[in-house]
Amino acid sequence: MTDDAPLELPPRILSGIQPTGELHLGNYFGAIVQHIALPAEFPGECLFFIADYHALTTVRDPAFLREMVRHVAVTYLALGLDTEKAMLFRQSDVPEVTELTWLLMCVTGMGLIERAHAFKDKVANGIKPSMGLFCYPVLMAADILVYGSSVVPVGKDQVQHIEMAQDMATYVNEAVGQPVLRRPEWRLSKAPYVPGLDGKKMSKSYGNAIPIFATGKPLRKLVGKIVTDSTPLGDPLPTEGCNVLAILDLFLDDAGREEVRTWYRAGARDGQPFGYGHAKVYLAECMERRFAEAHVRREALLADPARVDAVLADGATRARALATATLERCRAAFGLR
Ligand code: AMP
Ligand code: TRP
Repeated sequence: MTDDAPLELPPRILSGIQPTGELHLGNYFGAIVQHIALPAEFPGECLFFIADYHALTTVRDPAFLREMVRHVAVTYLALGLDTEKAMLFRQSDVPEVTELTWLLMCVTGMGLIERAHAFKDKVANGIKPSMGLFCYPVLMAADILVYGSSVVPVGKDQVQHIEMAQDMATYVNEAVGQPVLRRPEWRLSKAPYVPGLDGKKMSKSYGNAIPIFATGKPLRKLVGKIVTDSTPLGDPLPTEGCNVLAILDLFLDDAGREEVRTWYRAGARDGQPFGYGHAKVYLAECMERRFAEAHVRREALLADPARVDAVLADGATRARALATATLERCRAAFGLR
C-alpha cells in the first residue's frame, strides 16, 4: 500500500525555510549551501519554498512578512540558486497545500500530533498554542506530500516532522485503499553546528546571529562581539572551544584552517602579535570575500523587484502543476469528485 512504484513519480527533493527573520550564517552553512548545490547533483526535480503559511503561526505583521519573503527569495537568488533547474516559490502561491492539509487532518489521530517535540517544546516555553501551531506538522506533511517529494533534506530537529509525514502518507493510502501519496524519506543535511556570538547555537531568536549579508563597520562590530576568553595579545590562543575559530573554519579549506592554527599556536602572524581581535578582523574579511559576488547580485535583485516576482511566479506555476495532480488523485480517491 505504501509502495510508491504505482505512482511512477520521478525523484523529487524538497525543502522549506520560514520567512521569520534575517537569514544568518547558521542558515547558510546549515541549510542554504546544501540547497544551492543540490540542483547540479540531484537527478530529479528540486523544490525550495518560502514557508509563509507556517510563519503565520508566529508572525503578526503583514509588512514584515512580505519583506521577509522577499528577503529569503533575494538571498537564495543572490547566492546563486539555479532556478532553471530548481523551483523557488512562495508556499501560499500553491493553496492546494491547505486542501491537502485538511485531508491529512481527517485521517490523522490527535495522538500523533500531540507527540511532536517542537510543539511540546514551544508549549513548555510558555507559548500559548494556536490550532495553527498544533497543526504545524500536518501543514508540513502536506508541503512534502503534495509535490510527491521523495527526499527531504533537513536538520535533526525536523526529522520527527518528516516521520509524521511518512505516517500520514500511509494513513491516506490505507484510508482510500490505493497509493495516492508517496512516502518521503528524510536526509540529514551535512550541516555543521554554527555557534552564535555567545557560543550558543546561532539563531534568529537568540540575538546572537551574524546576517549573511552584513558588511563593513556593522559586520566588524558584530564580529567584535564574539565571546572569547581573555588570553592576552601575543600569547598562544587555544584552538579548542574558540567561537571565532569555529566560525572561521566554515569559510576555510584544510590548508586555510591549518594556517590559522599556526597563528593561534604561535600567538603571532608574520612576526606580528596575533590575538582575538586579529582573528575577528580576518573572519570579517573571509566573510566579505566569500559573499562578494552575492552582494553584487543582491544589489541588482533589490533594484529589480519584478525579476524576483517573476522567478517566484514561475516557480509557483511549475510547483502548482505537481500539486494539482496530487490533489486530483486525492479528491477522487476520497470521493470528493
Ligand atoms: P531556522 O532558522 O531555525 O528556521 O532554520 C532554518 C534552517 O537553517 C534549518 O535547516 C536549520 O537546521 C538551519 N540552521 C539554523 N540555525 C543553524 C545553526 N546555528 N547551525 C546549523 N544549522 C542551522
Ligand atoms: N519546519 C521547517 C523549519 O522550521 C520549515 C518547513 C516547512 C519545511 N515545511 C517544510 C522543511 C517542508 C522541509 C519540508 O525549518
